[in-house]
Formats: sequence, C-alpha cells, structure tokens
Amino acid sequence: VGDDPASQLYVGNKEKACNRLGVFSKTVRMPENTTQKELEKEIARANADPAIHGLLVQMPLPKHLDSARALELILPEKDADGFHNVNTGKLLRGEPAAVACTPRGVMYMLKSAGIEIAGKDAVVVGRSNIVGKPMAILLMHANATVTICHSRTKDLAAHTRRADILVAAIGKPKFITADMVKDGAVVIDVGMNRVDGKFCGDVDFENVKEKASYITPVPGGVGRMTIAMLMTNTVDAAEKVFG
Ligand code: GUN
Repeated sequence: VGDDPASQLYVGNKEKACNRLGVFSKTVRMPENTTQKELEKEIARANADPAIHGLLVQMPLPKHLDSARALELILPEKDADGFHNVNTGKLLRGEPAAVACTPRGVMYMLKSAGIEIAGKDAVVVGRSNIVGKPMAILLMHANATVTICHSRTKDLAAHTRRADILVAAIGKPKFITADMVKDGAVVIDVGMNRVDGKFCGDVDFENVKEKASYITPVPGGVGRMTIAMLMTNTVDAAEKVFG
C-alpha cells in the first residue's frame, strides 16, 4: 500500500525471486489512500484462495492504517513473513513456527559459514518486531548469551565491543564504526539506508572489515537471505498443505 521507495525495491525483488523459482506470485498494489476495510478485503481474499500458500503485507503501511490488525488477519498457516502473533508466540516458546525472514536468513548464514553460536556473546542493536526481537530469540535458542541494545542504551559501544557476534538493525547509515567492534567479531549488517540515492548499511563496512573475521555487505548481504527465506517459508507452508 502506498509508494514507499524501499518497499518498491523489496516487492520487486520478491516478485523476481518467485519468477526465477517457478513460484506463482501475485502482487496487489493499492494506493496511499486505501482504507483499512479495502486492505482487509484483499487479505481475506488471499486467505480464502487455495492457489495461495503464503502471503504478506509489505511494511510499512501508511500511518492511517492499522498494521497490527492487518497482520492478525493473515491466516497463521499462510503467514510467509512469520509476523502473526501465533507464529511469534510459538517462536518465543521454541515451537516450530514460520519465522521472520531476515532473522531466519541471518541464522542460516551463520550456520552455513560454520560460525559457532553456542556460548558466544551476541549483541543485537535494534529491537524491532521484524528483526531485533526475533533475531535475539533465535540467537538465544542457539545458546548464545544475548544482549539487546536500543536507542536508550547507555554506552552502546561498551556493549558492542564485547560482542563475538554483532547484529546491526538500527536504520542509521554507517552507525557502527570500527572502534565499536571487537577484533575478530562476526558482524551482520541488517541496515538498508538510502544516502544520496545509494543504499548502504548500518555498519561502516570499509573500516570495520579490517577488524571483523566475517562481515556482510550492503547491498548484497542479508537482503538476499531475506528473499531466500521468504521463498523457504512459502514452500514450507505449501508442503504442510500437500504433505
Ligand atoms: N518491510 C521491511 N522488511 C520487511 C519484511 O521482511 N516483510 C514485510 N512484509 N515488510 C517488510
């Protein structure tokens, strides 16, 4: 709904990924002045359509719309983003659930890179429902000792300098500088900021890469994993239907 520039980019990439994989997809673009009722009607339509196994509402929605209510209307079994309260509740309890794509992608990346998580100090900067909170829970379930930092944290650098695994999900360009990072740390940059028409992350990549043992670039890092996990969540949902 509306014309948020980052959303345009994300939705375009999601469509491309579906086309590449042979997954049927349908994008419903609605104008900025869409009403809550109109949005809810589209969600209900997708919920009822047996040809659709996974659906999502791209965030952010225009301010006059109730995002929480929209997310709750998506059937939990079709919740490709893992944002429904049923799925976030299951995640919290450690039960099988659709998991938010970006944190799921980060975990996949860490595991496939052979990075040990158990016993490590993990610091997540940012406490959003989309990234920070589910990320912290997944790292905790993988037996990391997790600290969640945010805009009200006193002496952020004191926390980030202790991190064996540092996840930046803040939304401020190049906010994490080399002096805030421990030698040999694993640095995961979830930021997606637009500066002078170009996208950059929350980490000062050029300087931090000299200290990190592993670091993800923006663009071309975590974003690709988000899309891959959206496809994975959708296939998982379809497999539950087809058995
Ligand atoms: N906005 C930013 N990231 C996401 C995401 O992963 N899913 C949705 N639906 N909206 C987003």
